[in-house]
Amino acid sequence: MQTTICQLKTPTAQEVRHQSNNLSKSYTLLAPIYDLFVNRASKAMRAASLATLPARPGMVLLAGVGTGLDLPHLPAHHRYVGVDLTGAMLRRSLPRAGRLDFRPVQGDVHRLPFADASFDAVVAHLILAVVPQPALCLAEISRVLKPGGEALILDKFLRRNQKAPLRRLLNPLARRVATQLDVVFEDLLDASPGLALRDDSPVLAGGWFRRIRLVRR
Ligand SMILES: C[S@@+](CC[C@H](N)C(=O)[O-])C[C@H]1O[C@@H](n2cnc3c(N)ncnc32)[C@H](O)[C@@H]1O
Repeated sequence: MQTTICQLKTPTAQEVRHQSNNLSKSYTLLAPIYDLFVNRASKAMRAASLATLPARPGMVLLAGVGTGLDLPHLPAHHRYVGVDLTGAMLRRSLPRAGRLDFRPVQGDVHRLPFADASFDAVVAHLILAVVPQPALCLAEISRVLKPGGEALILDKFLRRNQKAPLRRLLNPLARRVATQLDVVFEDLLDASPGLALRDDSPVLAGGWFRRIRLVRR
C-alpha cells in the first residue's frame, strides 16, 4: 500500500523576506486596479463569511485587510484592526471604514504585533494562500484569538493529493506576483492544533475557493 506523507514546505527566513518584498512591490502596483478585478467576484462570498461574525461586541482583526473590501459588510458594534504589509493597499481601506471603529496597522501577518488572546474573531480573507508561510500565518491567528474566538477564512485551497497540473505549473510565477495556487488547507490546520474546524463550504470555482470557519480551543 502506498503511503502519502504530507510535508509543509518551510522556506528559510531569507526566502520569506525576499518573497514578502516581492509581494509588497506587486501589491503596490496592483492597488489601483485590485478592486476592479476582485470586488464584484468576491462580494457574495465575503458577505456570507462575515455574516457569521459573533453577535456580541468584541475586537476583530482583519488579517491582510488590503483595500478594505470587507469593511462595507461589517457591523458597527465591533472594534476593528486591519493589518496589511502594503501601505498602498492599506491606505485605500481608510475611506471604506466609514462609521466603523477601524484602526489600520502596517505589519506582517507572519508576526502579528499583538498580544496572545487579543481578539474575539479574526477575518482572513484571501491572505492564507497569498503569504509565503501560510502555516505560520495561521499559527499567529490562533495565538491572537481568545479561547472560543473564531477565524473566518475565505481562500483558494487544493485538497490533499489533488493533481491540479495547471495550477501547479503556474504556481512558481503566481506566488511571486500575487498568490500561491497550491496551498493545502488541511496541512495548515494540522500544524495549528489549537484550532478546530467548525465549517468548510465550497463557494466558487468548483470548490477551489472555500469558506472556512475555525474556533480557538
Ligand atoms: C489578495 S489581497 C486580499 C486583501 C483583502 N483581504 C481582500 O479580501 O480583498 C492580499 C493582501 O495581503 C497583503 N499581504 C501580503 N503579504 C502580507 C504579509 N506578510 N502580511 C500582511 N499582509 C500581507 C497584500 O498587501 C494584500 O493587500
